[in-house]
Amino acid sequence: MRTTVGIIGGGPAGLVLARFLHRAGIDCVVLESRTREYVLGRQRAGMLEQGTVDALRAVGAARRLDLEGLVHHGIELRFDRERHHIDFPVLTGGRTVTVYAQTELVKDLVALQLAAGPPLLFAAEALAVERPESDAPVVRFLHEGREQTLVCDWVVGCDGSHGVARAAFPAGAGRTYTHDFPYSWLGVLADVPPSCEELVYARHERGFALHSMRSPRVSRLYLQVPNGTRADDWPDDRIWDELAARFALDADWTLNRGPITSKAVTPMRGQVHEPMRHGRLLLAGDAAHIVPPTGAKGLNLAVSDVRVLARAFTALHTTGSTRLLDGYSDQCLERVWQATRFSCDMTRMLHVQPDGDAFDHRMQLARLRRITASRHAAAELAANYTGLPLPP
Ligand code: APR
Ligand code: PHB
Repeated sequence: MRTTVGIIGGGPAGLVLARFLHRAGIDCVVLESRTREYVLGRQRAGMLEQGTVDALRAVGAARRLDLEGLVHHGIELRFDRERHHIDFPVLTGGRTVTVYAQTELVKDLVALQLAAGPPLLFAAEALAVERPESDAPVVRFLHEGREQTLVCDWVVGCDGSHGVARAAFPAGAGRTYTHDFPYSWLGVLADVPPSCEELVYARHERGFALHSMRSPRVSRLYLQVPNGTRADDWPDDRIWDELAARFALDADWTLNRGPITSKAVTPMRGQVHEPMRHGRLLLAGDAAHIVPPTGAKGLNLAVSDVRVLARAFTALHTTGSTRLLDGYSDQCLERVWQATRFSCDMTRMLHVQPDGDAFDHRMQLARLRRITASRHAAAELAANYTGLPLPP
């Protein structure tokens, strides 16, 4: 097989890139190692910045998102048994965010891709990227029981944090910066209407808790847990009791309880790989960077990477110039490091440090109080949460 852009990975990064390229008349093929059923069933985050929604509209992938997405005008910070509203439109000059599950977005993107091409192969596992420095890099992949090759002009690794694309960078061709946090998140999905209208980020002496949602009937909740925790150690009642304790307010408020339909533990990690390009191999999304989920930035960064990349491929296609492709890595990394900083700051401000002392605890409260007392500090949080503007 031969194509202009070989895309490894059919997550949000790969699928949105394929839509952009399709619109620009650029040929591509998407290889996805998992089956279609697996990809469509995977539970992920679901908070979209305005810029992400705009990008999805631009590629014609927002029809259901515009109907079913829940527009949010802020978040709630909860600490010391009190609630504080952070009003995004007021603080940012009108910006909002939209709750729409990544699972639903992937469903929409897969349907468009299968209806209007370009090719998307499921159960097609990339094994290696060969000759990334040459004019014709090759992806070797396994599909329908045999090894095949995809010869490309360019290869884009959108294959997540455990993919093969990054492994094709030769030793010394880049550097990976990693920070592992000393705690994880236990995430649950529950068939129960959300107990709040906005997302609630709660700091409590027992640990962080987050109340999010998937729809008016489905809640998504998270608890800070020690690293190494097994989801099976947390029966449903224990989860609800712990959530209720961490979200407790002096004011009247109750947490709705209901059947838990999924439970999983995710470690918290920040990681950035520099640069995001080697020869004709480019990285986008989780393949290049992972952020701790407290800032809701993972999916949004994946989409902003591929927006920049699509613009660069379109310029190459129409003018023959590689200038934008040459600037791709630097342009993305600027935004990636800002999102990483924000995600790590949010994480540190809201989680209990296992070896922390009373001093750390007072510092966290002082940070939170500064945000709720100062419009300037709140505006800084709101600007980062709703998404820093893309460079022109
Ligand atoms: N060959 C083909 N596909 C692969 C391979 C491989 N060797 N390795 C991984 N993949 C696929 C995975 O099965 C997955 O579908 O690549 C895809 C990567 O998708 P994501 O992990 O969703 O990453 P990305 O598209 O960058 O989206 C980032 O997803 O997990 C969230 O927090 C993350 O929200 C962020 C978003
Ligand atoms: C989610 O809805 O899954 C979610 C929302 C906000 C976050 C992280 C996860 O910061």
